[in-house]
Amino acid sequence: MRDRTAPLPLGLTRVAGHRGAKLRAPENTIVSFRAAKRLGAGWVELDAKLTRDGVPIVIHDQTLERTTDGAGRIESATLDEIGRLDAGKWFAPEFAGEKVPTLADALKAIAAEGIGVNVEIKPCPGRERDTAEASIAVIREVWPSSLPAPIISSFQHASLEKAKMVAPELPRGLLLETREVDWRETATRLGCKAIHPKWSELSAEWVAEIHKAGFACVTWTVNDPQAAKRLLDWDVDCIITDAPDLIVPVAS
Ligand code: G3P
Ligand code: MG
Repeated sequence: MRDRTAPLPLGLTRVAGHRGAKLRAPENTIVSFRAAKRLGAGWVELDAKLTRDGVPIVIHDQTLERTTDGAGRIESATLDEIGRLDAGKWFAPEFAGEKVPTLADALKAIAAEGIGVNVEIKPCPGRERDTAEASIAVIREVWPSSLPAPIISSFQHASLEKAKMVAPELPRGLLLETREVDWRETATRLGCKAIHPKWSELSAEWVAEIHKAGFACVTWTVNDPQAAKRLLDWDVDCIITDAPDLIVPVAS
């Protein structure tokens, strides 16, 4: 077992809030990022994609229905149209008025909380490279050098390739839904610093292999404290959770 008092790689903390604090506030909104911090997370994860007019915004789905009062595909809506939608009241009435944030506004609010951020590039199909490039331009413009550099993660190899090309200095994380046989080669080719496996795919052996190969291990999405404890015993570096309040107590 590694030294638990040693600093974590990439300036990570043990617990990161998924889409903010997805179980406690409307996901991917500024109020949700603030809630994650209040509940003890030292980092947050968010999903970036492009509006029709090419502006990076923070939203998970490819369509507006589930998390806003709008309808239709994200890549068909302009920033102005999305800016008029409510992204909070679907979750609970007290969150009415929350907006789909631009990536710029989200990053500014997160930086003001003094916490780290994992920007997942979640492109609409065909926009893998553009989403990475535009998101990186925003990060460069607004993210302060006093905080750890944002980790750019993606399931999309094309997004990570583009990120490597335009911002080699920003750490990259390879998201994995399953244990792909060539995970090491892929992560090495894409110049990744971290592997982000789905938690249920992990084993003590795989965590050890990830570390031995020189990568950090950031796993998602863990809401069960017992599972989190087991993962921490395996020396996972960071756990992404919808409910930081449930995981922080077992992580310290
Ligand atoms: O970044 C971890 C996790 O967010 C990946 O899956 O679908 O929740 O974005 P998803
Ligand atoms: Mg995500």
